[in-house]
Amino acid sequence: MGNKVSIGLLGLGVVGSGVIKLIENHQEELVHQLGCEVQVKSVLVRNLDKERDVEVDRTFLTTDPADILNDPEIDIIVEVMGGIEETYQYILDAFAAKKHVVTANKDLVALHGTALEEAARQNKCDFFYEASVAGGIPILRGITDGLASDRIQKVMGIVNGTTNYILTKMSNEGMTYKAALKEAQELGFAEADPTADVEGLDAARKMAILGRLAFSTDIALDDVEVSGITDLELEDLQYGDKFGYTMKLIGTAECEDQQVEISVQPTLLAKDHPLADVKNEYNAVYVYGEAVGETMFYGPGAGSLPTATAIVSDLITVIKNMRLGISGYHSPKPKFQKKLRGIEDRSGQYYLRIHAKDRVGVFSELSTVFNDLLISFKRILQTPIKKLDVAEIILVTHETSLVTFQEALNQLKQLDAVLEIKSYYKVEGDAADELAGTAKTLQ
Ligand code: HSE
Repeated sequence: MGNKVSIGLLGLGVVGSGVIKLIENHQEELVHQLGCEVQVKSVLVRNLDKERDVEVDRTFLTTDPADILNDPEIDIIVEVMGGIEETYQYILDAFAAKKHVVTANKDLVALHGTALEEAARQNKCDFFYEASVAGGIPILRGITDGLASDRIQKVMGIVNGTTNYILTKMSNEGMTYKAALKEAQELGFAEADPTADVEGLDAARKMAILGRLAFSTDIALDDVEVSGITDLELEDLQYGDKFGYTMKLIGTAECEDQQVEISVQPTLLAKDHPLADVKNEYNAVYVYGEAVGETMFYGPGAGSLPTATAIVSDLITVIKNMRLGISGYHSPKPKFQKKLRGIEDRSGQYYLRIHAKDRVGVFSELSTVFNDLLISFKRILQTPIKKLDVAEIILVTHETSLVTFQEALNQLKQLDAVLEIKSYYKVEGDAADELAGTAKTLQ
């Protein structure tokens, strides 16, 4: 290793431009930390003539990946082009050519992370992907290095900025889902096709990566149970608010007795939960460790320069490892054989909104279902919807098993008095009693 390290950049979009800017602007700090210059030598692009928002010498650009992957002077590949199968092959080719790889590609890492880590190990190469989860927040390093001494029990994340922006606008300004999504698109937070964000898939990819690192087990994307925010109705956010909860799209990965449960779902969070105050497009990841207790990491989950900071920090680690001669040793193989927690072992508190006939005895019928199943109410509220001659009943249960709660839903559907189960959501934490005098605790 000489006095210069050369980088090959695959992709020159928003994030790639940020990487070039950061390397140029922070060159003095990089030389100070590493004792060598860091230079982007070649950049793979699709179109040589496209206008860019960063100045790059045209002779550095190429449309042929082989120019980069076969260049013996290039030590490290930074992949910011996105995509899965073609990109996967480029990275395998890079490892075969003994090049280290840094990527921001969550789709790729969520699907092929374990195989790529194995390929990196076999070739004694480094493979880092800090930018793949929560953009500028150093959460992967927080887990693998900062909390390496602890046993992590639970990770909860707001890891999608688009949906957090939409939910903030719905909660704080009473906007409908559609209006909030439109505003997010106009401001550039949401993609023109926001499907992966609003249906929870983007967050699921990030949670699969977080879970794998937090619990050292081989979590696959399909292990994450996913529901998004497209069906959320404003009423549920408003009732939740009255009960002392804030609606958030929460990714949760829990591990107990080496059994993992991992999901992404709209969740009513008690307002004093550390994640409840994370607003707009910001991300945050809450990590609970056996020894450390509660920790939380907060920051921008996307954007050119924030994401570039994660990539360039990975580059710094790769270059330090090259100097020390310890490349390829960073990520050990998963320690545990994956065991997913069965549905019979899951539990939680649940929010439920029902439309029922507005007549005598309805409450008693509902209560009988819950009493027979030994589900205890934490909160309950009824409001008449006069024009429909319907009673809207909203309740929050105490902790109960998921199977029992599902049985309650089945039985409620059979009741003549119940017109419709409007919605139900997981509840997390204990809300302060914001409804003093209105909500009744029945049991
Ligand atoms: N679409 C993502 C989000 C961008 O909204 O958070 C970062 O992965």
